[in-house]
Amino acid sequence: MRLNKIISDFFSAITRNYISLFGTALAGATGVLILTFLLLDLLGFHGGPYLGILTFLILPALFVLGLLLIPLGVFLANRRQRRTGDSDSKSSRLLPVIDFNVDRTRNVALMVAMATLVNIVILAAATYKGVHVMESTAFCGTACHSVMQPEFTAFQRSPHARVDCVDCHIGPGADWFVKSKISGTWQLVAVAFDLYPRPVPTPIHNLRPARETCEQCHWPEKFVGDKLHVSTHFKEDETNTETKTALLLKVGGIQGRESRGIHWHVDPQNQIRYLSDASRETIYDVELSLPDGSKKVYRNGDAPEDAVWRNMDCVDCHNRPTHIYRQPEDEVDLALDEGRIDRNLPFIKREALEELLIEYDSHEAARSGIASAIDAFYGTEYPEVHSSQATAIEAAIGQLGDIYVSNVFPAMNVYWDTYPNHIGHEASAGCFRCHDRRHRTEDRERISKDCETCHTVLAEREENPEILQQLLP
Ligand code: HEC
Ligand code: HEC
Ligand code: HEC
Ligand code: HEC
Ligand code: HEC
Repeated sequence: MRLNKIISDFFSAITRNYISLFGTALAGATGVLILTFLLLDLLGFHGGPYLGILTFLILPALFVLGLLLIPLGVFLANRRQRRTGDSDSKSSRLLPVIDFNVDRTRNVALMVAMATLVNIVILAAATYKGVHVMESTAFCGTACHSVMQPEFTAFQRSPHARVDCVDCHIGPGADWFVKSKISGTWQLVAVAFDLYPRPVPTPIHNLRPARETCEQCHWPEKFVGDKLHVSTHFKEDETNTETKTALLLKVGGIQGRESRGIHWHVDPQNQIRYLSDASRETIYDVELSLPDGSKKVYRNGDAPEDAVWRNMDCVDCHNRPTHIYRQPEDEVDLALDEGRIDRNLPFIKREALEELLIEYDSHEAARSGIASAIDAFYGTEYPEVHSSQATAIEAAIGQLGDIYVSNVFPAMNVYWDTYPNHIGHEASAGCFRCHDRRHRTEDRERISKDCETCHTVLAEREENPEILQQLLP
């Protein structure tokens, strides 16, 4: 009986005017939905990132809005009552008088307290899940689908496909978390109003130092030693002749107290900083500080006014650890090597490269353009192959389409050369941005470009190289 009274008092208080009524309905409905989705989540039904955004970001916002409308409605109703004058002295005050001696007030206060407790639990759970959703790779990669499509696609095909975006882009600790939420808020605005640049600019100038991200999982002291690097290539001749390149890469690292090889750069005892343009493609001064306190400055012409200094870290070589846009030639070689494209198709390597380099306006246009060109080539030049190897041709066309749409994103202005990879010196200047013999100290000492500094080239695009016959008989 008393409980009934408490509840009815409470509901009459929060539904006495339209605004409060609407607020109550909104908070009630969204609260039930949030709880239902939370329960489903606990039971293992996760849904996609969009469900996550709805459940843990949009619904809680509506829920809070509903809750705020309830007192707002009461406040406005009181004010209106005062204005219209049909009031006694009690309700003519701006704020309600809370008198716990009145039964009804006690009842309402009790229910408000209990409801607030429940609301806090709902909101805490939703906030916790909301942050979780925003940190998830699915959210980062797909929430603003077309914007992140290039990065997400490249990421999914990389060695780091199972590492979360936030492990590299935010890393541990509260300060970077807050920083990322501030810039994230701006990013949401930029996407909503279509203010973002295409392509998304790189390098990221405020990327967290690699020491604090990459080194959660990798550590520079690990000695890698020499690494045999064998790659398979194909010539652009009729038979797509297979060749091999074999390199012994001197990755090195820190061994004992001496460091050597390529990872010598990240020995904490050697500090390298450099002055470059914003794109980091042209490097001017390079300053090397050695453990004995001495310093060397290698200079390469005069830097422009807006050049910036940067401490060299992992990302100056591994700038594409996960958003790896491969070159057309590497992709076709890999597909031929793995048999995804049939190497018995005459001139397939040459034709494939020619077609992949064409700029199309969309992924659909690329797929159909590539399909008709390859089909026409075999139709006119090799009619016999065209009919006898129709399935191989079709498979090759499918593969070339896949290669194109994995690396080129016309909607975001991303083409083969948008994001150069700095490992090596094939796809971009890479190591040769410094190791080019043009950087020299005042005593004319240069940063080495000697091929043997970084690797021993055991074979370069050779058919059946002897060295590999010995290694892999
Ligand atoms: C292994 C670490 C790592 C992971 C995981 C990672 N990134 Fe990156 N990301 C980088 C680095 C390093 C750069 C660019 C470095 C530079 O040159 O400034 C970058 C650059 C970017 C850029 C700028 C455009 C570009 O390609 O340079 C965007 C956007 C981006 N990442 C989004 C994402 C998203 C979304 C995810 C998750 C799907 C993700 N990243 C996962 C390391 C990572
Ligand atoms: C959360 C852990 C984690 C973080 C953070 C991380 N990595 Fe990795 N990284 C891995 C794992 C795991 C592999 C091995 C993947 C495999 O073998 O398939 C790997 C592999 C690599 C490789 C070898 C790739 C290859 O081709 O085999 C390089 C280079 C690398 N990481 C560099 C980086 C750099 C640079 C960063 C920072 C921008 C970074 N990683 C951040 C876990 C991580
Ligand atoms: C001076 C350029 C340079 C810097 C700086 C650099 N690396 Fe590397 N790293 C390389 C090259 C080159 C390779 C060999 C690449 C290959 O295998 O294709 C390599 C290989 C690796 C590998 C694969 C090793 C294996 O066992 O196969 C990992 C992991 C790695 N680096 C992590 C890092 C991390 C983490 C940092 C920062 C602390 C770093 N690197 C800094 C150039 C660099
Ligand atoms: C920002 C400039 C810079 C970049 C980029 C750079 N290096 Fe270096 N590197 C140096 C300097 C400076 C030295 C020391 C001078 C020397 O040994 O010639 C050096 C030395 C080396 C050494 C000799 C280390 C030893 O054992 O003493 C190797 C090997 C090397 N670099 C490999 C690479 C590779 C591979 C890349 C590209 C993936 C690369 N470097 C990119 C500046 C750079
Ligand atoms: C500063 C270090 C450095 C110097 C100097 C250097 N290279 Fe390289 N080179 C690399 C790295 C790193 C790679 C491997 C890139 C990768 O992992 O794919 C490479 C790759 C190669 C490749 C293999 C490309 C492929 O098809 O896979 C060849 C060939 C090559 N270098 C030739 C040379 C020659 C010739 C010279 C001397 C003029 C030279 N390099 C000087 C660092 C260097």
